[in-house]
Amino acid sequence: MSNLLKTKPLDVVMAEAYETGEHSLKRALGPGNLIALGIGAIIGTGIFVLTGAASAMYAGPSIVLSFIVAGIGCVFAGLCYAEFAAMIPIAGSAYTYGYATLGEIFAWIIGWDLILEYAFGAATVASGWSGYVLSFLQDFGIRLSPRLAGAPGTPFVLYNGHWENLSRVSKALALHHIDPSTLPHQTSFFNLFGFIGIALVTVVLVIGIKESANLNSVIVVVKVCVLLVFVGLGVNYIMGHMAEASANWHPFIPPNKGGFGEFGTSGIFRAAGVIFFAYIGFDAVSTAAQETKNPKRDMPIGILGSLVICTILYILVAGVLTGLVKYTNLNVPDPIAIGIDMTGVRWGSLLVKLGAICGLSSTMVVMLLGQSRIFYTMSHDGLLPKWASAVHPRFRTPYISSIFVGVFVAIFAAVIPISVLGELVSIGTLLAFIIVCAGVWVLRRTRPEVPRPFRTPWVPFVPIMGIVISALMMLSLPLDTWIRLIVWLIIGMVLYFTYSRRHSKVQQGITSVTSPPVGVTYTEPR
Ligand code: ALA
Repeated sequence: MSNLLKTKPLDVVMAEAYETGEHSLKRALGPGNLIALGIGAIIGTGIFVLTGAASAMYAGPSIVLSFIVAGIGCVFAGLCYAEFAAMIPIAGSAYTYGYATLGEIFAWIIGWDLILEYAFGAATVASGWSGYVLSFLQDFGIRLSPRLAGAPGTPFVLYNGHWENLSRVSKALALHHIDPSTLPHQTSFFNLFGFIGIALVTVVLVIGIKESANLNSVIVVVKVCVLLVFVGLGVNYIMGHMAEASANWHPFIPPNKGGFGEFGTSGIFRAAGVIFFAYIGFDAVSTAAQETKNPKRDMPIGILGSLVICTILYILVAGVLTGLVKYTNLNVPDPIAIGIDMTGVRWGSLLVKLGAICGLSSTMVVMLLGQSRIFYTMSHDGLLPKWASAVHPRFRTPYISSIFVGVFVAIFAAVIPISVLGELVSIGTLLAFIIVCAGVWVLRRTRPEVPRPFRTPWVPFVPIMGIVISALMMLSLPLDTWIRLIVWLIIGMVLYFTYSRRHSKVQQGITSVTSPPVGVTYTEPR
């Protein structure tokens, strides 16, 4: 048992973190870049897509409260991430923190869990991206066969001479008293654009672009502006149509329908568990720790700054969206576009779609990049096979693992419904948060002498709150999602006991100093 809890010596981890030299990453990022990086990773499919379904199915207008609950949970976890990221600024993020503090088995669980977060997270974002691409193309009369326009089983009906996603036209059908079952229908079997999205990002990661911090900042500005324009136009419309908005906001907490999570108080928590996905990404800031000029000061600023900005934006967007559109009509692939359509501002709808398409692309890059870094770090520790850290001689990217992961993720994006993907990512990430919060608390007791440039305030209150709120959100998620998580963890355990444990460098007493491959790095703005 003691072997399973073997830790990677903290001094080695810190030496790796501060290694410099020709193979190390360039330290070019400042606090502004990190906040931009965080927002770039955070704003994505969660707010642009999942908000709609979570409100329609679980919380109604009280989705606003769900955003507050999830946001508070993230701030507690974010404070714990900040302590670790400033103390051990290394690309392996929570996986490395776990290795240095709780022991190898926990590190493995977190690493395996992070693979779930980033790989399935990228698939979720690709699926949301595809919804906006299809909707955008449709505005210009370009339509894809319904067979290729969604995950298997997504229903389409022939309405007004066009194949339409049933969820998008159900309101219009109801208005005209048309029974959808009387219309010709087809179900899709492959989400072609979800697949293409991941394939394109994989090519980018293999070639290894030097993504400039400037480009990232531009995309971030676009995303934030699109959401602000949405809020602005929405508030303007609501002010002129107060009666309509009040009717949409009423009842603010729709009464529970009998089952756990179907509206009522439990619905607020279930929706919080689902839209928690919208906050994922601030932890990705910690993976850029080795590219940061002054990680000790800037990591906490990057993590917490991006989190606070997004929380405020999300609460505003959710409030306006549910005022514009009755929550029952929000279960669509492009809810923000539907919301802005209500205002009658046509350019607004196009702007939202373009913004979402461009903004979600950067989220996909950050997610798959995080994935390749975790793979690289775990492989370097011997927990995954060597090929996972094989670096391309010219591009200096972990190309084999990027292609391997890309193929799987593209298939997930094409065949698994977005709600299933999103909930699985949420539950997996919440588990990682719990372990990180516990890790901060444990390390304060076991290694109190290690310098902590940023100290999480009120330990153990903050870690405990991070654990409690994350656990509540996990518990509110459906049983199916739990089963999927458990299956994923069992697969992980089998791999650990059949391969990783025997190849682990820490178990063999080999410790080495390493740095991750370049891949996509952020360069200083000029
Ligand atoms: N938070 C990111 C998103 O919502 C992962 O897409």
